[in-house]
Amino acid sequence: MSTTERAARALKTVKDEEWRTLAGLERTASGYGTADLGRLSRTAKLPIERVRFAVGELLRKGLAQKKGSGYSLTQQGVELMALKDYVKKDLIFALGPIIAKGKESDVYEAVTEEGTKYALKFYKIGRTSFTKVRRKRLNESADIRSWMTSNYEAAKREYDALRKLRGLSPAFPEVVTHSRNSVLSEQVSGVRLMQRPELVDPRSAFVSVLGAMRLAYVQAGLVNADLSEYNVLTNGESIWLIDWPQAVPASHPNADDLLRHDVEALTTFFRRAYGVDVSAGDAYLFVRGRLPKLE
Ligand SMILES: Nc1ncnc2c1ncn2[C@@H]1O[C@H](COP(=O)(O)OP(=O)(O)OP(=O)(O)O)[C@@H](O)[C@H]1O
Ligand SMILES: [Mg+2]
Repeated sequence: MSTTERAARALKTVKDEEWRTLAGLERTASGYGTADLGRLSRTAKLPIERVRFAVGELLRKGLAQKKGSGYSLTQQGVELMALKDYVKKDLIFALGPIIAKGKESDVYEAVTEEGTKYALKFYKIGRTSFTKVRRKRLNESADIRSWMTSNYEAAKREYDALRKLRGLSPAFPEVVTHSRNSVLSEQVSGVRLMQRPELVDPRSAFVSVLGAMRLAYVQAGLVNADLSEYNVLTNGESIWLIDWPQAVPASHPNADDLLRHDVEALTTFFRRAYGVDVSAGDAYLFVRGRLPKLE
């Protein structure tokens, strides 16, 4: 079972004072990494003996861990808090199966009470440094702080980018919200282009990809900066551009180079995989909005 699945299971077993202790652990993490019982008692606003008991329960459930003289959240604890947030806001009802395991994230299906299926992406950047608890570390507090910072920020950055893209085109999964290390968005029913699925019309699929990149650039002022056949999904007809945490604004000093790189990666792929012949130069000008249409 993954940390996320264990977190989903723990959801029903966590009591009020444990939630407050978790929130206290999260709050101390950004400043100190770990918290001792005294600090936790103050942040959770609970008497020390209640906090001691709650921490014991959290340790037993794998939601907190002992770090030197203090305590910190585990990845499972972080993901539990995110899930609780979504459930409390009535956004999701249950966690479904895993959709994909990436290098830096795991994507799960999440289901609403009405049966709508969302994609719930949990960032796990640097997952080894967080989970290898036995390895001696010079500064465990700094590790925890930096794990939380980089994963919370990645989720926030992806949310911010998808928020800017919302409504511009069906090619951008509609984002719902984000919490902790996770982003909740529309689930699209496609496979990655790198699997080279059969396309109804490869050229028009490529033009759709470029058209979506153009909307992102011209309307939202965004360059994805990691586009390739890995981050484009398709059902053979429609295309979707996913994976936006590293997106940069069009005003960024490297935006032009990054855009050129994205365009070239996909031009090369469509030529090799589907024999679509579009010049990277024209494609680039089209995406920049400098060429009204592609011949
Ligand atoms: N909105 C979505 N709807 C359906 N499937 C999705 C969605 N977002 C992501 N996925 C699935 O999860 C996979 C990984 O997503 P994404 O590319 O955003 O994360 P990643 O951490 O960059 O993964 P990788 O390292 O594999 O590129 C996608 O290839 C796709 O299969
Ligand atoms: Mg990706």
